Amino acid sequence: MTPRERLIVALDLPSGAVAGVMVAKIGDAATFYKVGYQLAFADGLPFVRGLITAGKQVFIDLKLHDIGNTVAKGVESVAKLGATFLTVHAYPQTMKAATEAARGSGLKILAVTVLTSYDDNDLATAGYRCGVSELVAMRAKQARDLGIDGLVCSAEEAAALRKIVGKDLVLVTPGIRPAGAASDDQKRIMTPEKAIAAGADYLVVGRPVLEAADPKAAAQAIVNEIEQSKSRE
Ligand code: C5P
Repeated sequence: MTPRERLIVALDLPSGAVAGVMVAKIGDAATFYKVGYQLAFADGLPFVRGLITAGKQVFIDLKLHDIGNTVAKGVESVAKLGATFLTVHAYPQTMKAATEAARGSGLKILAVTVLTSYDDNDLATAGYRCGVSELVAMRAKQARDLGIDGLVCSAEEAAALRKIVGKDLVLVTPGIRPAGAASDDQKRIMTPEKAIAAGADYLVVGRPVLEAADPKAAAQAIVNEIEQSKSRE
């Protein structure tokens, strides 16, 4: 995998038209894009088809969670779309249904262990009797045992999760900020270089690229940082 293929630009934008302008500005500086609720529920899915036809890879970040049959049918549709990654919540039934439905297609399933906006108190309010770190570790083991392709995690969690899941699962980390960039609403941030050194395989970056005066240069600078980190391994 090249350093450029490790950067996933989050297209947190309101329409396919706006996203298309951004992808054109970024040009060949990025090859992988993430599409979440905002764009998908506007006109993002036809837009995704265009991206894939243009040779880009797409990460559909819709965090599926439903009864197994419904998850499986949704996964089959996303696989037909030609997406590369799809997120599901890390509940055993959901992960099992998703991995079985994706098998044999080019689609890889990523599990979200515990949303990073949750702390121990939020889990207690939601009816859980364990804390975040315990639940993350338990779900990471379950994800590994169920054959999930990767996990979405903060760069700070990457080293600990790598010990649990080994080398076979990919770790995809948001909350990335190049040195000197604004942290926005991200509380735990890491530079691209440090995140790769901590064991991340892919970096998800939104605002530092989307809001840059020159999005192409911003994406290229992140790719350069990834390259530097890899060259030190
Ligand atoms: O703009 P920024 O770089 O903060 O965007 C990060 C992207 O990663 C957003 O699409 C956000 O929804 C997503 N994300 C995150 N933290 C998580 C999981 C996903 O920031 N724990």
